[in-house]
Amino acid sequence: MSKILSAKIGPSILNADLSILYEESVKLIDNGADYLHLDVMDGHFVPNLTFGHPVVKCLRKKIKNVFFETHMMVSKPDQWIEPMADAGVDQYTFHVEPVKDVGAVCRKIKEAGMKVGVALKPGTEVDVVTEYIELADMVLIMTVEPGFGGQKFMENQMVKVKWLRDNYPGLDIEVDGGVGPNTIDMCAKAGANMIVSGTAVIGSADQRKVMSSMKQTVNGYLNN
Ligand code: DX5
Ligand code: ZN
Repeated sequence: MSKILSAKIGPSILNADLSILYEESVKLIDNGADYLHLDVMDGHFVPNLTFGHPVVKCLRKKIKNVFFETHMMVSKPDQWIEPMADAGVDQYTFHVEPVKDVGAVCRKIKEAGMKVGVALKPGTEVDVVTEYIELADMVLIMTVEPGFGGQKFMENQMVKVKWLRDNYPGLDIEVDGGVGPNTIDMCAKAGANMIVSGTAVIGSADQRKVMSSMKQTVNGYLNN
């Protein structure tokens, strides 16, 4: 089972200037982003709207070699698998809460050629993942209620991250929401290795420094 995990920083472009999404993305990549975390919202699963597969497809045409994760905050994740695969998405991360047959959605994502991310809202018990953990490439523990950037980090979610790390030492575990220089230590200590950070990175005058110091913190705890 044991694979060597590495720390990866995936900035969320939600709070970037979306009128220049390409430039904002290139800047993040040039400053050391390991992947891009693209927040897709449908105004139904969450009370907000962002963008969908047409925008992701345009971005992919201009950015060929960077790992794209779409964080699907949508009520019908099943519906967007094919369009997102066609748009060139590498990993399709969806919320289990509105889904009846999580395993079936996981399989469909894999068949479409993407990696599978399974996301849990703060109120969802972590042990629901045991049923389909074999089908998931990554588990995302939300550290805010999904829907908006710039919210306060929920420290009480760290117990879920720790539970996952204790039970699945080789699993990619992602945290998302309120993660930045002030909260990274808690995430890293609990065992997260994939770090989504929105406002803390986008709003920083030195993106490179913020991302590299978070990465260093995570690497300091990993595989030790
Ligand atoms: C929230 C999104 C997050 C968000 C992160 O629903 O899933 O990815 O943009 O932004 P910060 O880091 O500002 O909480
Ligand atoms: Zn997100």
